[in-house]
This record gives sequence, C-alpha cells and structure tokens, in this order.
Amino acid sequence: MSASSQANPLAEPVPQMNLAAQYGAIGAEIRIAIDRVMASQQFVLGPEGAALEVEIASLCGVAHGVGVGSGTDALVLALRACGVRAGDEVLLPSFTFVATGSAVSALGAKPVFADIRPETYNIDPAELERRVTPRTRAIIIVHLYGLPADIDPILAFAKAHRLPVIEDNAQAIGASYKGRPTGSLGDAACLSFYPTKNLGAYGDAGMVVSNSPELSERIRTLRNHGQTAKYFSSEPGWNNRLDEIQAAVLRVKLRHLSNWQRARQANAAEYLRLFREVRGVMPPFVPEGFEHVYHQFTIRIERRDALQQFLSERKIGSTVYYPYPLHLQPLYASLGHKVGDFPHSERAAQEVLSLPMYPELGKEQIARVVEAIADFVKC
Ligand SMILES: Cc1ncc(COP(=O)(O)O)c(C=O)c1O
Repeated sequence: MSASSQANPLAEPVPQMNLAAQYGAIGAEIRIAIDRVMASQQFVLGPEGAALEVEIASLCGVAHGVGVGSGTDALVLALRACGVRAGDEVLLPSFTFVATGSAVSALGAKPVFADIRPETYNIDPAELERRVTPRTRAIIIVHLYGLPADIDPILAFAKAHRLPVIEDNAQAIGASYKGRPTGSLGDAACLSFYPTKNLGAYGDAGMVVSNSPELSERIRTLRNHGQTAKYFSSEPGWNNRLDEIQAAVLRVKLRHLSNWQRARQANAAEYLRLFREVRGVMPPFVPEGFEHVYHQFTIRIERRDALQQFLSERKIGSTVYYPYPLHLQPLYASLGHKVGDFPHSERAAQEVLSLPMYPELGKEQIARVVEAIADFVKC
C-alpha cells in the first residue's frame, strides 16, 4: 500500500456536500431577503413566490411556473393535472428516489417500472414499449444526478401512444438536452428545492413548470384547496403552497445558480481528467449534446461498499444514491417483483457512489479524493 493511502489524522475532512460554505458566501444577501419578508408580514402566496414562479419558468424556458410545498407535491399535482387517477398505470424508472414512485402511489395509481441505461442511469426509452398497457396514463422520466434523460425517443413514443410526459427535474435544474433546457422537454416538469439540491431552499419547496396554461391553472387551483375563487372550491384540493420565506431565499440563490453550475462543471472536468489514469472506476458518462449539471458526481465500481469504508477512514464523504431500486423496496412488495426483473437498476444500486461535489470544492480536495480511490483500486 502506498504512503498516500494511509489514513492521515491531520488531513481536513472532505465532505460530500457543504452547504455551510455556500451560506458563508451569501449569508448577508439571504438575511436581507428574509428581513424583507418579515417586514411585509406576508408569508404565503405573496409577491416573492409570484416573482420566483416567473424567474424559474424563464430559466426552464417555459411560460408558467406554479410554486408548491415540495418536489413530491409537484409530482402529485402534475400527475393529477395530467388526469392520472386511482387504478391508472404510470411508467417510471426503477432507479430513482422513492418520491417519483410514491407520488404515483399517493393517487392510488400503479407505478410500472422500466429499467435504466447502465451508462447514464436514466430510463431506457426502449423499455417503454415493453411495459405499456391499455391502462397506462402517463410517463415520468427522471433526469438523475443532473444528467438529462434521452427524451426525444420518449417523446416520440408518448406521442404515438397519446401519453403525457412529466419530467422529474428535481436534480437537473439548469441542464439541457440538445440545446433545450430540462423543464421544457415534457408536458410538465417538477422541481424540488430541497436544501441539498443545486438550487436549494432553507426548508421544503418545489415547483411545477409547464407551457400549458390549462395544466398550470389547474395546479394553481389544486395547490390551494381547489379554490377557484376565495372560499369557493370547485374540486377537492389540499394545501401544497410555497411559502414566502423559501421563495425569497430561492430568489437570492437563483442569482448565483449559473456561477455555481459552472463551478460544479469545472469540478467534474477536473475529476474526469484525473480519473483517466485510474482503472476499474467508471466516471459519469455524458452523451453528445447533453449538458450535465452534476447535482451528483457519481462513479461506479465493483467493490463499492469497501471503497466507501476506505474513503470514510480518510475522512472523505460519499453517499449511495440509491442502495435499493424501487421495485425491490418493501413499499412495492405487493407488485410482486423479484431480483433480476430490472438488472441494470439492480447493478447500479450495488455499484454507484457519489463523491464530494459542490461549487466550493477545491482542486486539491478533488485530487485527494481521486488519489484515495486510486490507492483503493491498487489494493
Ligand atoms: C429525483 C427526485 N424526485 C423527487 C424528489 C422529491 O423532492 P422533495 O424532497 O422536494 O419532495 C427528489 C428530492 O428529494 C428527487 O431527488
């Protein structure tokens, strides 16, 4: 084992993410924005949320944005607005965060899983034809880790089958596919502003963006108890509103997003450069014409759990997103899936590891991470 592979008790930790560094840089701006909301004493459905809706819709290249309580709310409301009801089937990838599936289940609909492409971790468009049935009512695609899914063949399939496409864009705000921004690719797109996302609030928040005025208006009504006029509800709804403090925080952060995105992409380029010399590790693959925003920088490696342990001994943070594919979660036991049903998702769940990635990460830290991994693969 080389000298550099020894755990160095004096080495500074390299966390997997570092929100404190970001707050250190923009804290003053954030406090001014929060004070503005405090002075207004308007906390729900006010000017901050309305302005954020316009700004996010514009970033995503669409006409409408509707602020909601979380990314999960956004998915449930987008599905409802697309007409999904109890008993319907919805196609979605088996390798994603559980919320993609639980939004479908929350409506009493049935998630129908599709396997992923092993090199991008995103839904395999060829799977859709195998899984579609007369009960299929919608398709959710996920731009996992910040890399757009290959949407053109999916849109062609959806058009042929007259199915709406919902983008789960929780992880890929700012990304693009053949020059088109994620969020503008399907009938509606769902954003999460969970604190660790590339654009993260200081609590829960989310948004649905869409070019459809009808769909957006329906979601605007549904997020507020189905009210079409004050204290007049036209259909059952719920409270899925975005609050003003989160909106104000997000508007400050939005001003920095393109710089942060460039910094993430530069960090990824540095990782990729250094990984060229390391065998046995598969770094992220970005197809031609796809722009990755590196919400996560995720490698795959056969002895993943041992590597994670090795890194943690060297005070290097890493996370497994996600250790269980959806079809093997106890939540979906009633669907009767078994090991082997979605082999690419299952293998990804065993082999992926997300390395430190945030805008403030330095070249020296990246070098330390790659050096540790190089030492690991040698042993
Ligand atoms: C792919 C994906 N979908 C949906 C969600 C749900 O978003 P939220 O946590 O804001 O409800 C998340 C994030 O947590 C996510 O990563």
